[in-house]
Amino acid sequence: MSKRSLIGTPLSLSATKVMLLGSGELGKEVIIALQRFGVETVAVDRYADAPGHQVTHRAYVINMADGLALRTLIEQERPDIIVPEIEAIATDILIEIEQTAFATVIPTARAAKLTMNREGIRCLAAETLNLSTSPYAFANSLVELRSVIDNKIGYPCIVKPVMSSSGKGQSRIDHAGEVDTAWHYAASGGRVDQGRVIVEGVIDFDYEITQLTVRALDADGRVKTHFCEPVGHVQVHGDYVESWQPQAMSPVALQRSREIARKITDNLGGLGIFGVELFIKGDNVWFSEVSPRPHDTGMVTMCSQRQSEFELHARAILGLPVDTALQEPGASAVIYGQLEAKGIAFSGMVEALSVPQSDIRLFGKPESFKRRRMGVALANGKDTDEARSRAKLAASRVIPIKL
Ligand SMILES: Nc1ncnc2c1ncn2[C@@H]1O[C@H](COP(=O)(O)OP(=O)(O)OP(=O)(O)O)[C@@H](O)[C@H]1O
Ligand SMILES: [Mg+2]
Repeated sequence: MSKRSLIGTPLSLSATKVMLLGSGELGKEVIIALQRFGVETVAVDRYADAPGHQVTHRAYVINMADGLALRTLIEQERPDIIVPEIEAIATDILIEIEQTAFATVIPTARAAKLTMNREGIRCLAAETLNLSTSPYAFANSLVELRSVIDNKIGYPCIVKPVMSSSGKGQSRIDHAGEVDTAWHYAASGGRVDQGRVIVEGVIDFDYEITQLTVRALDADGRVKTHFCEPVGHVQVHGDYVESWQPQAMSPVALQRSREIARKITDNLGGLGIFGVELFIKGDNVWFSEVSPRPHDTGMVTMCSQRQSEFELHARAILGLPVDTALQEPGASAVIYGQLEAKGIAFSGMVEALSVPQSDIRLFGKPESFKRRRMGVALANGKDTDEARSRAKLAASRVIPIKL
């Protein structure tokens, strides 16, 4: 019997040990799903008392972009499975670990490396796989940025650091007078490599979706691709504020979305869930980017699917069967910190949970910032319109306060 089909006893020699690299709200839910299967979990983050640290067997604080620190911790813990939850990781170490074969990297070390840099995944999608994307170019300096916009991309366009997430350092520019500000904003908002940006032509889409796609083993031990119903979402300043499932789509757009999702996830390989971000206009579909892990907009699945995206990820990486079926229409709405303080409190929970078919998750982050995601409201309804208004109403009733 392969090790994969066995789950041991946590905190014993037989334990199936999973290490989460990143322990935010998404990692916290993956850990809870793993714990329910009796998996031993190790949660790593850059700061103490991160959401996932609060629900795990062991918690560590390290800089995961520091290769030596990362390798030392992995060798000390010897996990069976390593699950990246964030992008800013020393992925070359994951490639080395994967080669030694003592741990499996989810979905693969190559996928983690390619997706941590917009350049890697964009070139794979557009140039190797020939998927439709926005027009794009890269630049290493302000002069080069001006030149690629003038000669290739035009206005309006969007400038993003090659390494960033949640819209950090990202700006839309409509004319030449804004290039300077966009360059400096990108340089300050990116991670690790401060000197390189991608500039993309703006796609005038009708709506955007996340196609959650799961690679899991079937009963015969072969990898099978499963699709969730499409998740629609609204982004403000490059950060998600609201999502719902299912997003109504034309049959052609849905089919094209899934073809794209299958191509990119086939190429990235491995086991687990992926969030494939797509822009849709009529029957046309553009690939934007992909997370080889649960997606923030997919938090809606905690109320809309029988198995949430976190449970699907946990099952897939353990080699277990998955069920991506929708249970009922649902929606999620983000609860922001709205103030800058440590150890805040939340009032209005009674009023929020009085909204029919609603639920609230508070992530337990030790420090609040105005635009930091501190929680999420979930709601069901007879359709996504009703679910969306309920989720937004519930979220609006939760008031962060300083004690
Ligand atoms: N080329 C584009 N055309 C139109 N809209 C875009 C384009 N690029 C980005 N956007 C808008 O900005 C949002 C965030 O962009 P993107 O996903 O590239 O950033 P991100 O920092 O990786 O965000 P996240 O980590 O939240 O996914 C998109 O979901 C979309 O709404
Ligand atoms: Mg995105």
